[in-house]
Amino acid sequence: MAVTVKTPTVKASPLDVARIRKDFPILAQTVRGKPLVYLDNAATSQKPRQVIDAMSRVLEEHNANIHRGVYEFSERTTAAFEEARAKLARFINAPSEREVIFVRNATEALNLVAYAWGRDNIKRGDRIVTTVLEHHSDFVPWQQLATEVGAEIAVVDIDDDGRLRRDQLSAELRKGAKLLAVTHTSNGLGTVNPVKEIAAEARAAGATVLVDVAQAVPHTPVDVQDLGADFVAFSGHKMLAPPGSGGLWGRAEILENMRPFLYGGDMISRVTVKLTEWNELPWKFEAGTSSYVDAIGLGAAVDYLDDVGVAKIHAHELSLVAYLLPRLQEIPGVTVYGPKDLESRVGVVSFNIEGIHPHDVATIFDREGVCVRAGHHCNQPLMTRLGVAATTRASMYLYNTTGEMDALVSAIHAAKKVFGV
Ligand code: ALA
Repeated sequence: MAVTVKTPTVKASPLDVARIRKDFPILAQTVRGKPLVYLDNAATSQKPRQVIDAMSRVLEEHNANIHRGVYEFSERTTAAFEEARAKLARFINAPSEREVIFVRNATEALNLVAYAWGRDNIKRGDRIVTTVLEHHSDFVPWQQLATEVGAEIAVVDIDDDGRLRRDQLSAELRKGAKLLAVTHTSNGLGTVNPVKEIAAEARAAGATVLVDVAQAVPHTPVDVQDLGADFVAFSGHKMLAPPGSGGLWGRAEILENMRPFLYGGDMISRVTVKLTEWNELPWKFEAGTSSYVDAIGLGAAVDYLDDVGVAKIHAHELSLVAYLLPRLQEIPGVTVYGPKDLESRVGVVSFNIEGIHPHDVATIFDREGVCVRAGHHCNQPLMTRLGVAATTRASMYLYNTTGEMDALVSAIHAAKKVFGV
């Protein structure tokens, strides 16, 4: 599944990266005397000063629990939390803020759907269609649900370019499906799936459509209404926000009919010793004290991404990929995985160097100041499909530069030299 890239046209980046980098205090550091080259953005992104400050402001100026106090600090924190929700709703073009639920991360969002929707809607003999590109968080919950209730799970394959087998997907949907769980963008290969077409096909076949947009929302414009999904799930930490923040969007009519996921404070409207009535959306799904500081940080991250422009970020990342891929191809023994066509990619480049285990590659890169992820990327079925145990993955974001792509290429040469390959 190696990629042979035709020398792509390198379009100039639309971003003022030097200015953007000044907003990220961590990037000014050196590692072992070398400038930090942070290329593990699919694992987590760095945070701009604006996000750090927004979170510090809550903690320093008006920290208090939300939705509970009638004193000023609590009201200010509650207002900031709900404002963050409104920003997030606008960012993904949700029809209503009621449909945006704060969660800790995409994993929690996906498990919420698997428990609160899945266990009431997927029955013995029902079919769940998913794909080999899924992150474990969008695969294991469905696999477990299928095992628990006696449902069938169909896993759609990819072709040798790392694209979903549309013929197979259509055939699986034609057999009938209660749920399609599909990733928008693969965190392992960077493949962007044609989710809008797929969602339309799945809904026409009667399936509920859940889209994992964790690797998409930070890097490409995502409009949930245009996408035609029923649920989308994402993590804040991959989009400049702190770990512990994330979102689940769902259609109101579906969310209204779902049972809660977690029981406790804030998700109720009335509790008697005999019965409990649930709070309205979205709070019905936000039991306990929310990670409100993280959610407010996510609101600040959305402001930042809006100011820069997500479409420009995507164009910037593609300019880096277009610069990098031909250089990787020139290196003997380097195999790159994923689509040849740049239009079907984000800034994720997975590769292997013949004769060197990815963990050794990443260790040598670290000596050069280059941070990448090596391993299965929470994508073991995908690794099995690729016929490898692991890959080395460089993943870019708005603050990366072509100079850093050169540093990555030099680090590959350094690794080859150490191993004599
Ligand atoms: N899902 C994250 C990754 O792709 C952690 O690395």
